[in-house]
Amino acid sequence: MKTEVELTRKQIIHLLSLTERDEQQALFDKAYATKVDLLGKRVNLRGLIEFSNVCQKNCLYCGIRNGNTLVHRYTMKDEEILQAVSIAQENGLTGVVLQSGERTDAAFVKQVVRLIQKIKNATEKSFRMTLSTGEQSLETYQKWFDAGAQRYLLRMETTNEALYNSIHPNDGSHSFKNRLNCLEIIQQVGYQTGTGVMIGLPGQSVEHLADDLLFIQQKGIDMVGMGPYIEHEQTPMYQKREIRISLMERFELALRMIAVLRLLMPTINIASTTALQSIHPFGRELGLSAGANVLMPNISPIQYRKNYLLYDNKPSLEVDANENLENLLLRIKKMGEQVVYHDYGDSNYFINRQLNH
Ligand code: 5AD
Ligand code: SF4
Repeated sequence: MKTEVELTRKQIIHLLSLTERDEQQALFDKAYATKVDLLGKRVNLRGLIEFSNVCQKNCLYCGIRNGNTLVHRYTMKDEEILQAVSIAQENGLTGVVLQSGERTDAAFVKQVVRLIQKIKNATEKSFRMTLSTGEQSLETYQKWFDAGAQRYLLRMETTNEALYNSIHPNDGSHSFKNRLNCLEIIQQVGYQTGTGVMIGLPGQSVEHLADDLLFIQQKGIDMVGMGPYIEHEQTPMYQKREIRISLMERFELALRMIAVLRLLMPTINIASTTALQSIHPFGRELGLSAGANVLMPNISPIQYRKNYLLYDNKPSLEVDANENLENLLLRIKKMGEQVVYHDYGDSNYFINRQLNH
């Protein structure tokens, strides 16, 4: 079965530039039909646990950057994390994403190993753990993989080196080459590998975004989470707010990115991200209608959420995990999509990659 369409860079740029309503809708419909064809009317859910906002980095766009002294820092206790995992299990979810700021110290590395082992012991064999804990050494990635984490998310943010440098400080600890190197290591270690970019960054063009999609295709990425860039008032990039496109334009551009990616890579897992919902109340549903097949409802305890604000207007700050899940399930059902329970939810692309190895 042929699973990938050939699109030239020029065609991708054209599709990303569509703004006429009917043309755009036709793109979304085609991407959705492709998703339904290959993956069914099915949505995979992962519970997102933002287990620590301590971060050694200073990305210029991020609300929990180390330099933001207004943030109250926390790290959830293992028991609290396990409690969130059991909420995920009770609701039939078969995986969680463990996300935190970036730390590379030995104590953190050890803590994550312990956490993975505890979750492994508390869950079924089919339960999947995805880590989203930034740039680490080969040794650390290997250690966490050996402990039982099967997936890793490391967003490139942008695959253009100059643009990357413009959104990160030049302080010796934010290196494009290292980010790229880490992504390659993650793949080599054997994780189902996820990446993604922010959409609508100051200075970002559709050409940059087309190259991001081609990068994802060329690297054979298994899972993608990408969403609109949204400013946070307490960050240096907030100053550049005059030179960015409007939130609604970013939102639609993000939907077109999802749709084109679905055409390019029909069998990968694509998440409809929280950032979409921050701009539009039905953002996540619209992401699914444009070809995404994964949702990551936040199941972190409410008391921590206000301290994990990567950008302004982050939704679901006051709704607890169960309520959040219930709402979401209703909305998915309304769309005529079915939530996948008791299934690994592995990226089909990854499975085929393993088989052809
Ligand atoms: N707007 C949108 N996404 C953001 N992230 C961080 N800050 C922002 C922001 N201001 C995303 C980055 C990072 C992920 C954890 O959150 O892509 O990789
Ligand atoms: Fe830290 Fe990630 Fe935010 Fe960068 S984007 S400051 S690494 S939490």
